[in-house]
Amino acid sequence: MIIKVKQLIQSIIPPGNYISPFANTLNNHVVIITGGCRNVGKAIAESLYKEGASLALVSRNDTNFNNFLNFDPKRILLIKANCINKEDVNRVVNLTIDKYGKVNTLINCAGKFINKPFVNTSINDYNLVIDNNLKSAFLMSSAVVPVFKKHKGGLIINIGSKISHNTNITPNKVLYATAKYAIEGFSFALNKELKPYGVRVTCLMPATINTFLSLNSKNYLSAYDISSVALMLIKFKNIDFEGIIFKSIKHDI
Ligand SMILES: NC(=O)c1ccc[n+]([C@@H]2O[C@H](COP(=O)([O-])OP(=O)(O)OC[C@H]3O[C@@H](n4cnc5c(N)ncnc54)[C@H](OP(=O)(O)O)[C@@H]3O)[C@@H](O)[C@H]2O)c1
Repeated sequence: MIIKVKQLIQSIIPPGNYISPFANTLNNHVVIITGGCRNVGKAIAESLYKEGASLALVSRNDTNFNNFLNFDPKRILLIKANCINKEDVNRVVNLTIDKYGKVNTLINCAGKFINKPFVNTSINDYNLVIDNNLKSAFLMSSAVVPVFKKHKGGLIINIGSKISHNTNITPNKVLYATAKYAIEGFSFALNKELKPYGVRVTCLMPATINTFLSLNSKNYLSAYDISSVALMLIKFKNIDFEGIIFKSIKHDI
């Protein structure tokens, strides 16, 4: 009797076929990337573009736009905007929807790092670091979430830092650590809140990336390591990653 019930249940559950998530292209997938014109953001933009995505890249500095002259104008939108300014942020989302008709993924990559002893930090430093890392993600998310809710789906990838999981933070990083701990909490809480609407929110928390001059550069993650992880997140649509902490195999931190 038990065996027959088991067989019956197994006959109802579809066996499913293995389909590689990497087989899906990102054709017709629209991605906004803040800070998308240089270093990590640029690497993410290049990788997603190669997979077929249509991009809206945001930078405060239009000289960075020269990096994208060879891209197909049908799949690239370059927007000069400051992500800590609400009007600019609304313009970014409106221009993206005007061009592509939708947004599927937002990648909040804009950020600011300062290395200063705590006693020397000013309120201006506080505003600079907290605003560019956190307020930018807050404003951008606030502008796209209504669009995602309307279309019952979407993905937000926030670029945090492994600093929010380091037990041994080196000195002079109080403001940066504050901002990156906050972006992790923001991501986790927003992920739970938006789950009923089919919207995923994930915080990527990479260790040091070789986007600045250092004698140790060869041991750090490359910007393309970050883009590979972001790509996996977009393609593995059925996985709620919550947060991903990662570092180079050559760098213990
Ligand atoms: N490098 C690392 O070791 C490392 C490690 C872990 C995490 N991260 C994080 O990864 C992200 C990218 O790092 P990165 O090394 O590529 O940094 P980066 O070279 O300093 O680039 C930061 C980007 O953010 C943009 N940005 C900053 N504030 C903005 C604002 N208000 N509006 C629009 N764009 C703004 C900048 O664009 P414009 O100045 O052109 O506007 C720039 O493209 C950051 O969030 C960083 O904290 C970096």
